[in-house]
Amino acid sequence: MNDKKLHALLDDLSLKEKIGQLVQLPGEFFAVHTATTGPEQKLGITPEVVDMCGSVLNVAGAEKTRQVQDKHLKKSRIPLLFMSDIIYGFKTIYPIPLGLGATWDPELIEKDYQNTADEAQASGNQVAFAPMVDLVRDARWGRVLESTGEDPYLNSQFASAMVRGFQHDFDKQHGIAACVKHFAAYGAVESGKEYNSVEMSERKLRQEYLPSYKAAVDAGTKLVMTAFNTMNGVPVTGNKWLLKDILREEWGFDGIIISDYAAVAELVNHGFVPDNHAATQCAFNATVDIDMKSPCYANELQPLLAEGRIDLQKVDEACWRVLKLKNDMGLFEDPYRGASAAAEAQQLVTPQKRTLARKTADEASVLLKNDGILPLSTDKKIALIGPYSSSQELIGLWAVHGDTRDVISIEQAFKEKVASENLKVTSGTSLLAADSNYQEMGMTALQFENSQLTDADQQQADQDVEVLGNWADVIVMPVGEHTVQSGEAGSRTEIGLPAHQVALIKRVAKFGKPIVLVTISGRPLVLTDVATSANAILQAWFPGTEGGHAIADIIFGDVNPSGRLSMGFPRAVGQLPQYYSHLSTGRSPETSGHSSRFMSKYIDAADGPLYPFGYGLSYHHAKYHDLTLNRATMMADQTLQATVALENESDVAGTETVQLYLQDMFASVVQPVKALKAYHRVTLAPHEQKNVTFTIDVAMLKFYNQQNQLIAEPGKFKLFVGANSQDNLTTTFEYI
Ligand code: IFM
Repeated sequence: MNDKKLHALLDDLSLKEKIGQLVQLPGEFFAVHTATTGPEQKLGITPEVVDMCGSVLNVAGAEKTRQVQDKHLKKSRIPLLFMSDIIYGFKTIYPIPLGLGATWDPELIEKDYQNTADEAQASGNQVAFAPMVDLVRDARWGRVLESTGEDPYLNSQFASAMVRGFQHDFDKQHGIAACVKHFAAYGAVESGKEYNSVEMSERKLRQEYLPSYKAAVDAGTKLVMTAFNTMNGVPVTGNKWLLKDILREEWGFDGIIISDYAAVAELVNHGFVPDNHAATQCAFNATVDIDMKSPCYANELQPLLAEGRIDLQKVDEACWRVLKLKNDMGLFEDPYRGASAAAEAQQLVTPQKRTLARKTADEASVLLKNDGILPLSTDKKIALIGPYSSSQELIGLWAVHGDTRDVISIEQAFKEKVASENLKVTSGTSLLAADSNYQEMGMTALQFENSQLTDADQQQADQDVEVLGNWADVIVMPVGEHTVQSGEAGSRTEIGLPAHQVALIKRVAKFGKPIVLVTISGRPLVLTDVATSANAILQAWFPGTEGGHAIADIIFGDVNPSGRLSMGFPRAVGQLPQYYSHLSTGRSPETSGHSSRFMSKYIDAADGPLYPFGYGLSYHHAKYHDLTLNRATMMADQTLQATVALENESDVAGTETVQLYLQDMFASVVQPVKALKAYHRVTLAPHEQKNVTFTIDVAMLKFYNQQNQLIAEPGKFKLFVGANSQDNLTTTFEYI
């Protein structure tokens, strides 16, 4: 309908109908199953609110959503919006976003998100609670899984690509609406502990944490979700400065702001307001439009209006934003928006989608170590020993609608390439240790029992390890975190491989055969203790539906790995938070002339990460040389060209991710030792030479000064170009 008619509808709605549009409930209120993504408490709302409710959380499937919609439309004249956690795939699952970040290939990821939108639409979902663009620097936090990493620039590239992908052809009734989250700075929770507080200067917030949300807003995201955390003592869900002043007024966001799950009611738990009444007033006045899974808006908006504490016009504005999205999506004409069993059959996990998922998992995998053992020849006798060898649990915690039965396991993929007489497989041990505190991880006793090997199976596995270890020419060990050990509410204080898996690696090492570790995880792990036992390490993340294929592609050399870390791997958990773009200190081990003790470092670990940001190996080797600038100085209206020569010194074609970093060497606010400003993915034929040129403009030189103004200051800049954040060629120029 046109806007005029929509306004007429809004004018005609009763107050209860209007408030209903601002309430979101999960499937249990509509008698259908919903994936659990938060605490399950009773809400204490009336059946009338349920009947008038505007949107549904995490109900998916054409049949289910149609049923719920049909039932709803018997009581309400406004169709429901179906919103879901569709974070890195709907049914076809891609690698976790930390893996997507490692592709450094936003164009590819945009296509993944288009495919995801098409699947979700066919299954009756209209809004994805994604992209999650929180900047992450502390691998203890379980939700680093959902982010593309530690860098503001790289995250921003992915944020826009994901929004564009989800919302592709939106005006032609395709795609689904994106909901960027968690605004703002949820990734900076203190000590990596879930739902914890955030304290940071406005300058740091603006320079490092806000750019990725801003990129999503600029790309046209239709919704924004608030974060659970406090920001300098004020919970974000009631934070007028962040939501109204910055997001709406400064950035001009006129879409829907939705709270995170129960976050409005949790303003009380934070100790910010005394009761739900005050929580509602606070969140609503901060311009939160939709209250997800809390009794606040449902029960308190009406009394607040009666008391004159909130304005009816503001309720109308919030309701308008919801109606407008529904109308733009054509729900008044087709309340299912094309969802049907036939559409699902056409869209879900098709061969074309699998091909893209495989390519993405190929690009996301990062080769961390290789002494030359990889790629493997299929003529070798290969033992696959480890708990992920035959497992289909490769999709990770946030693939809420994914089905592990669609997953290609590593064993299955190996069997497609290796003759049966050359391949033997055993799990060796279970994924979780027998003494795991499974209740803390949210598992039931039965789920935990099912995750364990029986005594008889363990005995068999022990014997198999012995036989296979002696038989093999090379041992591939798929190990890693269990799905429940990362993702939301998956914070950990120890982020190495579980001790019993390390024991398996040490035992296998005694056979003296080459070992290839394949690590499956939702975070950068501390691999310091096992790296020495391994000849090669392939970081495969939770690689998704086509995970097994991608791992085999790389191990057997059908694909030359190109993944580069978008979050560094620490040497020790005590280094966290850790990130490459830290500030210069007065006593840097690299640049100060002080004696070794009085330096900014730890005395029990080498400085810096084990594997840095931007790092990853390939089967080719490219030499970087002759970094040149077209001039030594630059003015505000000028650009500068930096050119580097690349030379593939090998017989293998490959892709380099050429990275450009800058350091403002002296500034009125101390700046990072280096910060990524641009990169190019360049494919080189065997022995090919190519020059790669970057253009530097004044926007790349800017930072937030002491008055929080974005400026570029005249002075000297250091420029770094290289294959990762540590191995660089350098030069300098002057901004005048
Ligand atoms: O979208 C999520 C959010 O990221 C964390 N809390 C629950 C929401 C809905 O499931």
